[in-house]
Amino acid sequence: MSAGTTTSVRLVDCGKTFPDGTKALEPTSIEIAGGETVVLLGPSGCGKTTMLRIIAGLEQPDDGGAVLFNDDDVTAVPIEKRNVGMVFQSYALFPNMSVADNIAYGLRVRKHDGAQVRTRVDEMMEMMDIADLGARSIDQLSGGQRQRVALARAIAVQPRILLLDEPLTALDALLRERLRVEIDGLLRGLGITAVYVTHDQSEALALGDRIFVMSNGQIAQTGTPREIYHAPANAFVADFVGTVNRLIGTVRKSGVDLGGRPVRIDGVSAPAGTEVELLFRPEDADIVSLKEADFSGKVQTSFFLGSRTRLVLTAANGQPVIIDSSGRESFAIDQEIGVRIRPEGVRIE
Ligand SMILES: Nc1ncnc2c1ncn2[C@@H]1O[C@H](COP(=O)(O)OP(=O)(O)O)[C@@H](O)[C@H]1O
Ligand SMILES: [Mg+2]
Repeated sequence: MSAGTTTSVRLVDCGKTFPDGTKALEPTSIEIAGGETVVLLGPSGCGKTTMLRIIAGLEQPDDGGAVLFNDDDVTAVPIEKRNVGMVFQSYALFPNMSVADNIAYGLRVRKHDGAQVRTRVDEMMEMMDIADLGARSIDQLSGGQRQRVALARAIAVQPRILLLDEPLTALDALLRERLRVEIDGLLRGLGITAVYVTHDQSEALALGDRIFVMSNGQIAQTGTPREIYHAPANAFVADFVGTVNRLIGTVRKSGVDLGGRPVRIDGVSAPAGTEVELLFRPEDADIVSLKEADFSGKVQTSFFLGSRTRLVLTAANGQPVIIDSSGRESFAIDQEIGVRIRPEGVRIE
């Protein structure tokens, strides 16, 4: 691949209002460093694809918005001159062409000579582990193989930036996980600047150097996967990225009252009598004896998930609580279970 030059991406005040009046993106400014992998994460309809298309040049931002690659203003530069590679959920391959011809397409458009094209196509097929499929037509491939071809085609032309829009969504769970690991390795190996769109939090956590969580045409939070997961900026992010318990309790002198012995939590500054919300993730609570417990709850349901068992408890004041235990323990419905929350895992709102 091309030697160490990477391309940073900057959007300055980029909003998007479609002709029908839909405001898909509020004016947004972001910076992506050269070589960085940023994941745009958010629910369907929040504006991820729109932002990606603005970076690609498939969509113009509203007046006042600018797109910069390094220090070049590319706002008015059409997609074919921006040198970006794109991979979509729907593959968008040419069905009447062989695998090799699909991968060669961009190189031929750019008028590389035949020998160069063949070398590069072989290299790409090798990299994507599809070397024996070159002569196949696209409709003879599985979904996973198609997506490898799409990736190979996008990378073959050595784009400055790789844009991926839910590339794994159409694949089954096992394949998705495998290809995700491969894409991760690929992006790191290439050192390319990449923007990866997904609504799948586990994909985002695994792939992103940073995650931009989006909601309603806006960025709700940017941060590393650990920052987003452990220090969500607000309830939307906490809910969207992982599972979170939210228990309403009342502040007492000795802690927060959830309908049992008050839970001692550092840093509760609200005066006694105030209602607060305790937020914690299932893995930040442990099952302990009733004597050691912060509070207890009755098992309402339990799901065996193989590596762990997820329990839904009903706390004394009636609120549901989700707790994970190791996969080896089993629990009876209505059994009373003691729960202790790890202090470092609690947030109070
Ligand atoms: N061409 C368009 N015309 C009108 N509305 C659009 C168009 N494309 C997308 N939208 C709307 O803009 C919003 C954001 O869409 P999109 O960026 O595709 O979201 P996401 O990729 O996060 O699912 C949605 O409400 C969608 O319906
Ligand atoms: Mg989309």
